[in-house]
Amino acid sequence: MSLRECAESHELERMRSLQSRAFSLQIRADRLWATLEGINMFIILRATIIGAGLALVVGGHLTLGELFFFLFIVFRLVAPIEVIGAFLPKWNEKMEKVRMGVQIASLPSLVKNRANAKILPKISGVMEFQDVSFSYAAAGVMSIMHDDELEEEMDILHGHTPEECKDLHCPHHPNVAIESEESTTEEETRKDPPRRYALEHIHFSVKPGEHIAFVGHSGSGKSTLASLINRFYDVTEGAITIDGTDLRDLDLHWWRGSVGLVLQDNTMFNDSIIENIRYTRPDATDSEVYEAAARAAAHDFIERMPDRYRTVIGERGIKLSGGERQRLSIARAILKKPSIVVLDEATSALDSITERSVQEGIKELITGRTSFIIAHRLSTVRSVDRIAILEGGRLIALAPHEELLKTCATYKEMVELQSHGLLAE
Ligand SMILES: Nc1ncnc2c1ncn2[C@@H]1O[C@H](COP(=O)(O)OP(=O)(O)OP(=O)(O)O)[C@@H](O)[C@H]1O
Ligand SMILES: [Mg+2]
Repeated sequence: MSLRECAESHELERMRSLQSRAFSLQIRADRLWATLEGINMFIILRATIIGAGLALVVGGHLTLGELFFFLFIVFRLVAPIEVIGAFLPKWNEKMEKVRMGVQIASLPSLVKNRANAKILPKISGVMEFQDVSFSYAAAGVMSIMHDDELEEEMDILHGHTPEECKDLHCPHHPNVAIESEESTTEEETRKDPPRRYALEHIHFSVKPGEHIAFVGHSGSGKSTLASLINRFYDVTEGAITIDGTDLRDLDLHWWRGSVGLVLQDNTMFNDSIIENIRYTRPDATDSEVYEAAARAAAHDFIERMPDRYRTVIGERGIKLSGGERQRLSIARAILKKPSIVVLDEATSALDSITERSVQEGIKELITGRTSFIIAHRLSTVRSVDRIAILEGGRLIALAPHEELLKTCATYKEMVELQSHGLLAE
């Protein structure tokens, strides 16, 4: 599987190599530190012993020869003990961190390639959701969290606030699962028992090039459905097919390479803007990158950066605003030329004027491609072919905007509330 189709294996490899470099550098730093501490102790201890010895010699309690013999024995014995004593606590502390890093890196993937995984010669884009149900617990998300040994390791991560974590968009992120179990009191459970299935009996099919929007209240299952399309998880029951082939029979890396996914907050790397955009298609030329950036309404803000396209954006793109990161992600997706597009709140961080300027690029991205769009701002999805209304993990309606206004009370209510500013966009 080539890197340009999916950069995941490249990134894992890079992480492992960086981890092992960091580990050896850390050992060198620890050794140096221990040596310095040893030198420090060496001077203090020796100065004290020599001072006391000399006082005894001056007082006539010790001969000079006895003092030299005593010092010789003491220094020979003490020196190695001092060095080891200073080194060991640091070594243990660092080893603990490395062990944690290795544990996290070796978390089992919830989705695996089957034997003889397929690569389709061409994707036309017919997708079928055949009675799909999905439970995070059954998919193993909970069991990963409750593995005793790992839970202990993960405790260190609990300090993260959702805000700190969300830009990684890690589908296996522990917070949701842990919160849902730990913060729910018995009384709350009685009032509102947790749903076993995040999605239940979703059944519909999509024509090639059709644009489907997922709409529903928070927690209705929109992102879960998007995650299943990209195969962050496999369905618990039923099947999702592309051109008649079950997604589970496809080569995972190839399939993810065929899907253009833009999320609310997307992973950025501590690299230049141009390399961040080129990430999903390393063979793209500079002018192709500029073109994609322009389509995503990112070119102007990039041109204003100190080193333009060569500006390094910091760890996780920290030097950019959320909206700027989103535009880079849209540029990435445009450059990737995927077969299927999934946009999950892809423009949520943009103000409505910037969003309008990105819409052209998005329109171009989805034209002719089977696309799934999630947006809280209903005005941005009303022009799609059909809108799927999700409620409590169930698909309650699937029709174009005009028809839904007449037939679906939930949709009508959402549109009305939003137009009156009573429902968050
Ligand atoms: N990683 C997870 N582990 C366990 N449960 C999860 C996880 N992610 C989501 N859920 C649960 O699945 C259900 C659907 O969540 P999902 O994120 O798909 O909702 P959504 O419609 O995208 O909501 P929003 O509009 O807030 O983004 C919710 O009940 C949620 O608590
Ligand atoms: Mg969501």
